[in-house]
Amino acid sequence: MLEFLEAEGIDPALVREIRAFREKNPLTEDMQARVPAPRYRYYGKEIWEHAAAALLCGKNLLLTGGKATGKNVLSENLAMAFGRPAWNVSFHVNVDAAGLIGSDTFEDGQVRFRPGPIYRCAQSGGFGILDEINMAKNEALAVLHSALDFRRVIDVPGYERIPMADTTRFIATMNYGYAGTRELNEALTSRFAVIQMPTISPENLDRLLAGEFPALKKKYREQAGRLFFDLQKKCENAEISTKALDLRGLLDALDLMREGVPAGAALDMGITYKAFDGYEQGLIRDAIAMRLSAKLTRAELFSE
Ligand SMILES: Nc1ncnc2c1ncn2[C@@H]1O[C@H](COP(=O)(O)OP(=O)(O)OP(=O)(O)O)[C@@H](O)[C@H]1O
Ligand SMILES: [Mg+2]
Repeated sequence: MLEFLEAEGIDPALVREIRAFREKNPLTEDMQARVPAPRYRYYGKEIWEHAAAALLCGKNLLLTGGKATGKNVLSENLAMAFGRPAWNVSFHVNVDAAGLIGSDTFEDGQVRFRPGPIYRCAQSGGFGILDEINMAKNEALAVLHSALDFRRVIDVPGYERIPMADTTRFIATMNYGYAGTRELNEALTSRFAVIQMPTISPENLDRLLAGEFPALKKKYREQAGRLFFDLQKKCENAEISTKALDLRGLLDALDLMREGVPAGAALDMGITYKAFDGYEQGLIRDAIAMRLSAKLTRAELFSE
């Protein structure tokens, strides 16, 4: 991972500091399995540098941005780069304080505290990935306040206050813009360094596609990349909604093509049908047709 960062041209001073952080905080054996081994690398030098610098100086991060901008990929990449175990907590309206911190259970005739993911993360000095944090109710999030600010403690009602291990960091992700997303309250937002996740750059998308689909012929890889940005332009001009603008969908479509689904059907499944309106689907298909013919087959798209 650190070799990847060096190859990405990340500021060598930061890479040195990450290496020093890892050497200073070696992992116990039982924690090794919790260090993520992400399926994707995050591409984006500046974002890497800002995120790493914030974590190095002890900040917690809030990654905000549109769908499929790599928020989860970056979170896991960071935990791996820093060599820390990660706890992933998905937030939703029914998340409550007990589910985060822990609760009493009855075991062998005794009341015992069963720690929740935030408690375990804080004890082990892990990276807590608070996914879609804005989806939870404010009351549930209030228990995180003391953990996220200078106090760095977790208060379990009825138990002691436990201080967090030094290496504990929280990385929250938050999506905005589509139905069902909510604002994060100010008190919580104020406890994070915020990174606005940009859309991947054309150069980095090309590298991502080349890495994921090494057998995809170069000319089609380039067309696929351009298609993504064509759709983005159409979104910006409000010709189509953001439903079909989805990097995840493009990667899925290419997966399907590699599996033998013809290009047209694969792009329908990955992209076009995410818009449910027939008229909009027509516009999306037109945009696709400018870049990739629907009839293209696996044999034409991929070299053996
Ligand atoms: N800069 C990037 N570098 C590498 N992969 C990226 C980048 N941006 C997007 N992706 C790709 O987009 C897909 C979605 O990534 P991820 O799940 O991290 O997005 P997200 O921002 O968490 O999305 P959502 O808000 O929908 O949960 C992955 O396949 C990922 O590889
Ligand atoms: Mg996500």
